[in-house]
Parts: sequence; structure tokens; C-alpha cells
Amino acid sequence: MKITSSVKGTRDYYPAEMGLRNWLYGKIRSVSRKFGYQEFDGPFLENLELYAAKSGEELVKKQAFVFPDKSGDPITLRPELTPSLARMVAQRIHQLSFPVRWWSFGPFWRYETPQKGRTREFFQWNIDLLGMENPQADAELAAVACEFFRDVALTAREVKLQVNNRRLMDSALEAIGIRGEAVGGTFRLIDKKEKMKQPEWEAHARETGLTVDQVKGLMKILNDLELWKQSRELVEFFDAVQAFGVSEYVEYNPAVIRGLDYYTGTVFEGRDADGEFRALLGGGRYDNLVADVGGGKIPGVGFAMGDVVIGLILKKNGKEPMLRIAPADVLVTTFSAQEATASMEISQSLRAAGIAAEWYPAPDRLPKQLKYADALGIRLAVILGPDEIRQGKATLKDLIRREQATIERADLLKEISKRLVGSPCE
Ligand code: HAM
Repeated sequence: MKITSSVKGTRDYYPAEMGLRNWLYGKIRSVSRKFGYQEFDGPFLENLELYAAKSGEELVKKQAFVFPDKSGDPITLRPELTPSLARMVAQRIHQLSFPVRWWSFGPFWRYETPQKGRTREFFQWNIDLLGMENPQADAELAAVACEFFRDVALTAREVKLQVNNRRLMDSALEAIGIRGEAVGGTFRLIDKKEKMKQPEWEAHARETGLTVDQVKGLMKILNDLELWKQSRELVEFFDAVQAFGVSEYVEYNPAVIRGLDYYTGTVFEGRDADGEFRALLGGGRYDNLVADVGGGKIPGVGFAMGDVVIGLILKKNGKEPMLRIAPADVLVTTFSAQEATASMEISQSLRAAGIAAEWYPAPDRLPKQLKYADALGIRLAVILGPDEIRQGKATLKDLIRREQATIERADLLKEISKRLVGSPCE
């Protein structure tokens, strides 16, 4: 019979992949806490209308997984967290102490074409600060992202945080006669620039209604690396980035605009230095979203990083962690049905002392049991034969150093602990 295939764009997490996911979660937790952020989560199912508030057409109409519930209401698997966060803040606006600093790590779903770096089910780290409107708050989020890069050993030569500001772009576009309704369309056009070839993009720009001169003017804006100096917000932002000690990672890029509609000010994206992959993370300032979901005027800034591109970048740069994903530190073998009870008791006494111990649940041949321990990366094996049991002894085999010794049962715990120093299982 054929094995039923998994849903397109989803991934199976075998223990090795699960180890990597948990490692990433651990790094994210530690960086988030270092900056004083609290963990939270929203529901995985939301009403579609939540995203209609401001996420943008592409996300709502093309990418959201939407289905009717039994009463016919459109429910969506969350494609992003920011609208849920805005709603949660709006609901408790009078109880919360601002600034609110919250982070989260969980699954999201988008109906995208699966490709390098993009899947239909993925994990995101979201981290946001609400209640402050200044560029220094934006810089704190940039610092969080860069601190994470440092923590996973990615250097400023390998990854960059590229920053722009939508208000700055508004005035730059105004100067070439793009204003009002046309601005949103032009932002979407800028967002597509890196995903299209230049002639194709220019043709698309003309189709959206820009004149030949405006396309030229736009190209000039997108190549002007000094443009940020005209934005007070960005000047203050870059000063604060310096104070946070992460300048080496952060640079100005006038072509960064972001695809989501709710951003109002500074926007940024994390990218690998060679530009090989799609964005590693993305975020920015959104000053109206809490109001747009029905709350008061609470400004916010934050970003999200997916688990897929970071995995590819770590791999490319040889920075993937070496994880020992052994299920236990010790395997207690079973010599025969008669000795099974003694083996079970020993395994339990090891657990009572805080050691992860697995008991082999059948009297198979010893080589088979040891091969099993080896295959799973279990470091030590306790062998209990009838002689050892009678003499109050046990044989401890170190499967990594390939050595063994028969010792007093009373010394077993001490000997195991000695050998495990510095390398307990994950
Ligand atoms: P976003 O740019 O849509 O922003 O997504 C952020 C990150 O999530 C991307 O840079 C990427 O790492 C990851 N991601 C998105 N879609 C996929 C996919 N199909 N497969 C794999 N990874 C993906 C947001 O979601 C905003 N809500 C971020 C934010 C938080 N802004 C303010 N606060």
C-alpha cells in the first residue's frame, strides 16, 4: 500500500529536525528575555476580518488558508501574528503597563508556492514593542535582531539588517509627483523589485500608471544610499543603533518597503549578505493597527523571523549547531527475563538521581541492545548479568570511548555522573 503523502508545503519533524527547532526556540527565548520581553501567544484560528483591517490584499486574498466553520463563518489559520497582538492589546488597553514588550514562537500558514525558503506551514518568532512612538524603540528591535544574529554566530559579513522609512519614501515619491492613492501601488511595486527582472519590473511600473519620467525618478530614489540623511527619524534611529552596539549589522536600503499595508514609519528586513535567499526576517513600525482593530491609538514596532530561511543561512555558513539528540544518557540492558526486574529497578534509581535512563524492554542479544544504544547516540550502557547481580556489581560501558569496567553497584551513580559531566543528552 502506498504511504499517504503529507500536505504540500508542510514539513515532518523527525527527532533531528525537532532538536533544531527546539534549539532555535531556546536561542529566541534567551535573546527575547535578555531585552525584557515576555512570552505570549494568540489563537491559531482567527476570523478572516481581523486581517482585512490592514494586512494587505496579497495576504488576505491569496495567501490565507480560509474555510467556513459549521455555521458558515470564514475562519482562517493565522498567516501572521501582528493583527492578533493588536487585538489582544486593544482588549486590555486599560490594564496593560506600557511599553508592552512581548514575544512569541509558533506555527503559521500561508498558501504560497513552496520554494527555497518558503513553505505553507512555518514557524515564526514574533517580537514587538507597543506604546512608544520614538525611533529609539525602532532601534531596540533592530538591536534584538542583531543580538540574535550574534547569538547564533552569524557575522555582519554574513547577514545584514536593511532599513528604510515609509514616511521618507512618501516625501521622496511626492517629489516625483506620486501621491495619494498611487503611493500604496508604488510601495507594492518597490516590494516586487527584487523578485522581478529589471525590464519586466519597468514594464510593470508603466502598467501601474507611472510615467517614463516617474519610473526614472523612482530608480534614482531606489539607488540613493544617502537618502536616509533627509529623515530625522532615521538619523535618530542610526544613532540609537550605534548606542546599542549593533551598527556593523545595520545599513540603509531605499528598496526595502515591506509588503504589508499596516507599516507607517521605519521598516526593515534581515537578509543574507549575498542576497541568495528571500528575507530572513521582516518588520517595522505600525502606528495605527491597534486603532484599526478597534482599540485606541497605541503605536507599535516589531518584526517576525521565520524558521526556514534562518535554517538555510546557518547551513550555508557552517553555523548549524552540532546537536546531540540522544533520548537518554544511559541504556540499562536486559540480560534475560529473570534479570529484567533488576534492570528496571536500576533504571529507576538512575532517574531518581536525575539521570535520563532508558531501559531496554526485551532480553535480546547484548550486541543488538548495544547497537541500538549506538544508533541513538546513547553514551553509556549498564550491563547486568546474573554474575554481576549476584556479586552486587554492574558493568558500565562507555559507548563513545569504547571502554568498559565492572564496578560496585554502589559506585554506579558516581561513575555515571563523572562520565556525563558536560555532555548530558539534550
Ligand atoms: P512577513 O514579512 O510577512 O512579516 O514575515 C516575516 C518573516 O516570516 C519572513 O521574513 C520569513 O522569514 C517568514 N515567512 C513568511 N512567510 C513565510 C513562508 N511562506 N515560509 C517560510 N517563512 C515565511 C510579518 O509576518 C509581520 N507580521 C512581522 C511583524 C511583526 N511586523 C511587526 N511585527
